[in-house]
Amino acid sequence: AFSHILPRSFSRKSQRPSFGIAFDIDGVILLGNTPVGGSPAALRKLYDAEGRLKIPYVFLTNGGGIPEPKRASELSELLGLSVSPSQVLQGHSPFRQLVDRFEHKLVVAVGKGEPASVMSEYGFKNVISIDEYASSFENIDPLAPYKKWTTKLAATQNPKFDESRSQIDVFSERVQAAFIVSDPVDWSRDIQVLCDILKTGGLPGRNVGMQPQLYFANDDLEYQTKFPSERLGMGAFRIALESIFNRTHPHSLEYTCFGKPNPSVFKNAATVLQQHVPRVYEDFNGINHKNTQHFQTLYMIGDNPAVDIRGARQTGHPWFSILTRTGVFKGKENHDKFPADLVVDTVEEAVDYILTKEY
Ligand code: G3P
Ligand code: MG
Repeated sequence: AFSHILPRSFSRKSQRPSFGIAFDIDGVILLGNTPVGGSPAALRKLYDAEGRLKIPYVFLTNGGGIPEPKRASELSELLGLSVSPSQVLQGHSPFRQLVDRFEHKLVVAVGKGEPASVMSEYGFKNVISIDEYASSFENIDPLAPYKKWTTKLAATQNPKFDESRSQIDVFSERVQAAFIVSDPVDWSRDIQVLCDILKTGGLPGRNVGMQPQLYFANDDLEYQTKFPSERLGMGAFRIALESIFNRTHPHSLEYTCFGKPNPSVFKNAATVLQQHVPRVYEDFNGINHKNTQHFQTLYMIGDNPAVDIRGARQTGHPWFSILTRTGVFKGKENHDKFPADLVVDTVEEAVDYILTKEY
């Protein structure tokens, strides 16, 4: 009796939507801090008139540098809607799974924003930012005197980590892992200091053993901001660090990259999307089937063929990939190496396509 008002892929058993959407951020939702492609209007279509979420969606970005709750408030502000922290999946979000391994061990956090706050929020108890770490070693960066901007910044940055600095003895405590949380800012210093940490076994200026672990939140070669052509991303930094390390050290650099296009990221997004199926779709016995039913279709809307589209394709069912032209991809037709299931101009066009197909 309800079939005429239900979306096509609503499950008959519980009348819940059996599709969800994952939105890439840079190049799809935002360019820098500016919404692009009609993103606020597109997202509003996923809420009902009272502002309640109708369609499960998440942001699936390789970017980051600030804790998920703070990113959710920033996105809410920029887009004019209410985003919950659990809807924000960032490149570094999987680092949380490594807490058990490194909980009380000294780890260094690298990248723009507040990389050490991100790690503390995940539960890492003995974390120091590379800014703090490097500033403990006199003369570690011979170019520092020429970087007027860093000396100015260092004095005002992250005052709450000053306390922990006195507890961490960087001269005797080995760094057990380095986490590249977000795009590194000062490449020359970060490459220098990371080489020191990684080559010595975790104590710059000494030689104490094996290479500490090294984790990257993503391996994006390029991404899109407001500048007309693509900008170098964390993957470009990884290539620079790896090339230099391998030229100056007898063993090759060992590391792990998280983020899209790894299928685990898409599988985790599917699990999180299940948790966002609105409560209103309960069956006639009052049972909400979230977590127990599977989506018929999950849409990935991305701008980067080698990352977003490749990842969705590799993961396979139920992912359906949509490529926009507002970011890294600027082609007329489909991408030749990583073709998407659908190519559109903007995220708004993508959402309109989905809603027309599903309802
Ligand atoms: O630094 C962010 C960039 O590498 C990618 O972000 O949202 O396009 O996955 P996004
Ligand atoms: Mg992108």
